Amino acid sequence: MQQPTLETARLRIREMQLTDVDGVYALDSNPNVHRYLGNNPISSIEKAEQYIVSVRKQYEEFGIGRWAVIEKESGEFIGWTGFKLNTEPLFGHHHFLDIGYRLREEFWGKGYAHESAVACMNYAVEHLDFEIINAMAMTNNEASVKILNEKLGMRELGIFEGHGAPCYFFEITKAEWLARMYNK
Ligand SMILES: CC(C)(COP(=O)(O)OP(=O)(O)OC[C@H]1O[C@@H](n2cnc3c(N)ncnc32)[C@H](O)[C@@H]1OP(=O)(O)O)[C@@H](O)C(=O)NCCC(=O)NCCS
Repeated sequence: MQQPTLETARLRIREMQLTDVDGVYALDSNPNVHRYLGNNPISSIEKAEQYIVSVRKQYEEFGIGRWAVIEKESGEFIGWTGFKLNTEPLFGHHHFLDIGYRLREEFWGKGYAHESAVACMNYAVEHLDFEIINAMAMTNNEASVKILNEKLGMRELGIFEGHGAPCYFFEITKAEWLARMYNK
């Protein structure tokens, strides 16, 4: 299924393509990137390719999946952002969309994760048929928790164990997001 292209001031967000394989490998082979993701970085380009194939399968199967983030200035693939449909039940949710992001380490600290997430939330409110957006992050992943909680205004519904560590389960409704945008 056709995926959108979103533009922010500094980023282009588009469907993930097989030509992003080197970027995905650079992203997912870095142990620092995987510090709060279960410490299991990939070690072959084939794994990066398999990941892209799995995302593209989600586009077809569910109409949605993570999107590539391109830094406009350099044209570089800097990571991914956007939504994933979860089909395993969690906190009473059965089919839920989570928002997430994962960036190459050299692009951290520039506000890119937040910038991409705002564009994705705005897209969701207008175009996705879900009243609620969820997110998950290890409780000690301070950068991610700050974005989800403070910057996006997501509420913690509780804590569950993921990859052997405590993780927050966050939620925001479309109405809450719109109110937040409207009151800025
Ligand atoms: C999490 C991640 C996406 C953040 O990307 P980013 O572009 O650097 O994030 P942003 O710059 O938009 O915002 C991060 C905020 O957290 C703050 N922050 C960063 N590291 C922090 C830390 N260790 N402790 C506390 N705050 C931290 C930043 O200062 C910034 O807040 P500010 O704008 O008020 O200064 C990036 O670090 C990453 O890809 N990590 C690996 C994958 C990952 O953990 N993904 C999230 C899984 S839930």
